[in-house]
Amino acid sequence: MEAPTVFICLFIVCLSVFGLSIATDTLSSGQSMKDGETLVSSGQIFELGFFSPGNSQNRYFGMWYKITPETVVWVANRDNPLTDSHGFLTFSHDGDLALVNQSKSVVWSSNMSRVLKNPVAQLLDTGNLVLRESTGLNSDVYTWQSFDHPSDTLLPGMKLGWDLKTGLERRLTSWKSMDDPSPGDYTCRLNIHGLPQVELVSLRSSKKYRSGPWNGIQFSGASVGSTAATTSVFFYGENEIFFVYEPRKGEFIARVLTMNHSGLLQYYVASQRSNAWNIMYSVPNDPCEAYSTCGANSICRISRAPICDCLKGYVPKSPEEWDLLIWSGGCTRRTPVNCSKGEGFLKLEKVKLPDLLEFWLNKNISLKECEAECLKKCSCTAYANSDVREGGSGCLLWFGSLIDIKEYEENDYGQTLYIRLPKSELDFLHNSDKKRRMVIAASISAIAALFLLAIVYFHQIWHCRIKRKGSKIKEEDVNLPLFDLATIFKATNGFSENNLIGAGGFGPVYKGNLFTGQEVAVKRLSRNSGQGLEEFMNETILIAKLQHRNLVGLLGCCMEREERILVYEYMQNKSLDYFIFGLISRPFI
Ligand SMILES: *[C@@H]1O[C@H](CO)[C@@H](O)[C@H](O)[C@H]1NC(C)=O
Ligand SMILES: *[C@@H]1O[C@H](CO)[C@@H](O)[C@H](O)[C@H]1NC(C)=O
Ligand SMILES: *[C@@H]1O[C@H](CO)[C@@H](O)[C@H](O)[C@H]1NC(C)=O
Ligand SMILES: *[C@@H]1O[C@H](CO)[C@@H](O)[C@H](O)[C@H]1NC(C)=O
Ligand SMILES: *[C@@H]1O[C@H](CO)[C@@H](O)[C@H](O)[C@H]1NC(C)=O
Repeated sequence: MEAPTVFICLFIVCLSVFGLSIATDTLSSGQSMKDGETLVSSGQIFELGFFSPGNSQNRYFGMWYKITPETVVWVANRDNPLTDSHGFLTFSHDGDLALVNQSKSVVWSSNMSRVLKNPVAQLLDTGNLVLRESTGLNSDVYTWQSFDHPSDTLLPGMKLGWDLKTGLERRLTSWKSMDDPSPGDYTCRLNIHGLPQVELVSLRSSKKYRSGPWNGIQFSGASVGSTAATTSVFFYGENEIFFVYEPRKGEFIARVLTMNHSGLLQYYVASQRSNAWNIMYSVPNDPCEAYSTCGANSICRISRAPICDCLKGYVPKSPEEWDLLIWSGGCTRRTPVNCSKGEGFLKLEKVKLPDLLEFWLNKNISLKECEAECLKKCSCTAYANSDVREGGSGCLLWFGSLIDIKEYEENDYGQTLYIRLPKSELDFLHNSDKKRRMVIAASISAIAALFLLAIVYFHQIWHCRIKRKGSKIKEEDVNLPLFDLATIFKATNGFSENNLIGAGGFGPVYKGNLFTGQEVAVKRLSRNSGQGLEEFMNETILIAKLQHRNLVGLLGCCMEREERILVYEYMQNKSLDYFIFGLISRPFI
């Protein structure tokens, strides 16, 4: 009985003595740090010191997670490695932090514009290394912070974007390789030319991905929402334009975005219990997300086969290549437009707006005036509202080719675009529309009759049978058990706050217990998402298809009263992380 107690006491004493010798989060003027010494943030989250990445022999000064030292989040001397372990960090005479090599040459410096009399450097629990005056009135003002100089990782609280007053741009740049943190080929930045959009750019081969322009609520190709670990916020002000993930209290920590050296933007999450990082999503993660997969004047739809289609009124530039699924040539007009009478527009809904290459922006005019502006200019090919809030306002005009349009199935994404067509194309569409409407009317009567018959036959079977015909691909058929609302209400304690485990654009996710004892996750689609029965079914099919990707088992659904609910198996441990994030519409890009 006593031996273990003594042992535990000794252990604790050892720990605290050992801990005291290293666990300091500040470096004061007059002090310096040698290779081998580290600073640790007060909550033991981040550590700052010297390291060698991968198989490299070089020494770098940087920051990593205390629990996973191989996860480096910031590097000071990216371009200028130390070749031995005799480097040290110290303060220069004007208060800058300076990394110095053996022959006393400065290899990196914080290079502030202000001079500090009595500087102190502190490593905060957010992963921010800050420089400030150690005492006095201004001791809470950061004269320099590592958050203003990101490497390849965006941490919660760190801004991606611009300080327009100082001209400071905060962007992510990939490492060259696992062994080399010097700036690599890929950057992730906020482009603020026209309307802001997040872009992933390769220095060698231009754009890889873009989020679509900011439309007042979200980027037209990416929603801004919450996960269990972060809430994403976009700030669009006169002096600052930036994107930030605010951390949320709870079980999860996020490394948010890493600009991977292989060209992927990755969102990582760890549960505080497991200390293992999971990639929640990567961008671009499908061919339609990759920049301009289908070439000019085309539209990409991930659920179609083939995924690329010319816009209405356009035909493949090279039909032979198009047939071979080589899309880079894009599409060209079937009939040219020349500002003649009768030209008009076709409405495309839920699309990522084309890239802002040649465009005109006026935030003051209405959609009607916008259309008139586009008609006036012969080279105008499309228009859209620049802001979708309060019914829409402002005007974006595109000239020339329309690049990188993607259509979404989910309601959370995309916005309405109007593309210009000559009279002949519009007449053609109008006529085929009429025919289609007659066919639809006839089919609806037939379907209604069949449906009544089916109800008579199968009324005792509690299943929601969902059937949809894809345009060209095979028919999908999903057969899901139907839960009644009372069961779900009981399982989640009446959708109690205590059962809430996450929330996204689609609505909240609750943990629940069925009367059988089975643990479930209940995704309650938000009522104000405006999702109709058809969209709900489409999404259900989509998720059922995702099961192939071993995401989460979909147990059933509920469509009672106004409610649209999906019920999943609740999985413990590692898959829990996947589950929460996998289900929720991606918070951003
Ligand atoms: C220190 O850095 C300077 C300038 O970068 C370089 O010329 C010198 O060789 C370095 N000394 C050592 C010992 O690495
Ligand atoms: C330090 O900053 C100044 C401008 O503030 C710049 O001109 C200079 O090149 C910088 N020096 C280094 C070493 O980055
Ligand atoms: C880049 O992605 C690859 C594959 O997902 C991974 O092995 C590697 O660790 C990533 N690199 C960084 C710096 O995150
Ligand atoms: C404009 O195009 C239409 C058909 O596309 C054609 O009938 C008409 O002659 C053209 N007008 C001019 C001025 O080129
Ligand atoms: C839009 O309106 C504001 C105020 O009503 C005005 O200051 C601004 O110049 C206008 N911008 C354009 C492009 O007309």
